[in-house]
Amino acid sequence: RMLKRQIACRSDINRMNAALLAIYESLIPPEEEKAKQKQLLALLDKIVSKEWPGARLYVYGSCANSFGFSKSDIDICLAIEDANIDKSEVLLKLADMLQSDNLQDVQALTRARVPIVKLMDPETGISCDICVNNVLAVVNTKLLRDYAHIDVRLRQLAFIVKHWAKSRGVNVTYQGTLSSYAYVLMCIHFLQQRRPAILPCLQGMQPTYSVTVDNIECAYFDKVEKLCGFGSHNGESLARLVWAFFNYWAYCHDYANDVISVRTGSILSKRAKDWTRRIGNDRHLICIEDPFEVSHDLGRVVDKFSIRVLREEFERAAEIMQCDPNPCVKLFEPY
Ligand code: CTP
Ligand code: MG
Repeated sequence: RMLKRQIACRSDINRMNAALLAIYESLIPPEEEKAKQKQLLALLDKIVSKEWPGARLYVYGSCANSFGFSKSDIDICLAIEDANIDKSEVLLKLADMLQSDNLQDVQALTRARVPIVKLMDPETGISCDICVNNVLAVVNTKLLRDYAHIDVRLRQLAFIVKHWAKSRGVNVTYQGTLSSYAYVLMCIHFLQQRRPAILPCLQGMQPTYSVTVDNIECAYFDKVEKLCGFGSHNGESLARLVWAFFNYWAYCHDYANDVISVRTGSILSKRAKDWTRRIGNDRHLICIEDPFEVSHDLGRVVDKFSIRVLREEFERAAEIMQCDPNPCVKLFEPY
């Protein structure tokens, strides 16, 4: 009877794994979307270079970090070398030019935390946000993309976690839950911690890439093609990893003392980072260190109400993965 149960269990896991992989596949953007993005980027490049000949446009965020779903908006950074520019002025000027070039829904949000111009291209139907000189975001986008190349399970796990977070309404920073960027860092850290490890710690290796941005030195090993096969000693399936991820955040993470850190590939203490008290609006109820801006806790948006919502959602997901032989329906059930 034992054997029968084990076999039944294994076939459950295989079925679960196939279902999760099918969801992952269904969220991958098709090639024609990439072509449309390129088309829009070329148009914007032409507009921008009229006014700022030395400037460059960089795509960052989900369209460039390989964690983007089909139909994502594009995040673009306009990089202007001149240190004396006034960002608001640039954005207002840019908004003007975009409007005269027949782009739709153009809106300059100069007072946002990251000031941007929003627009929609009627030609391709793509929406995008353009910010100015947010070069750190371009660099952390590259870091995420490089990690994704090492083991496909990172992209699979992060897609499932992002899809879960969006379905459950816990991917809304202005409501005190976490950004997609934070969830991807949680996935990278989690895979660094598996034994055997599925991902290395790129910032702990001999750097092959190094830039200084806003006085922050960003350096890490980026020859990731040399690391493919790194995680092959660990045979864990996607279903097993999704279960273990939610189990970790539901029952194993020490919220009172721990900071997760992709930069060091380890757990740091809140005490060492001086993240033990509330300072201003930063409460540090869940601590996720930014890999480059190390004083930045990506959990700082979380407040005493939303931390409960988040933890209950982690527990709910862990429970579903543990008990439901067909978890995909409930896991992604709209809240
Ligand atoms: N970013 C950052 N610091 C944050 C939040 C975001 O540097 N606190 C940057 C990162 O480069 C990130 C990008 O902004 O890749 C976009 O953030 P976000 O919208 O959270 O992630 P996306 O990958 O674009 O996810 P989504 O599919 O939800 O748009
Ligand atoms: Mg985005």
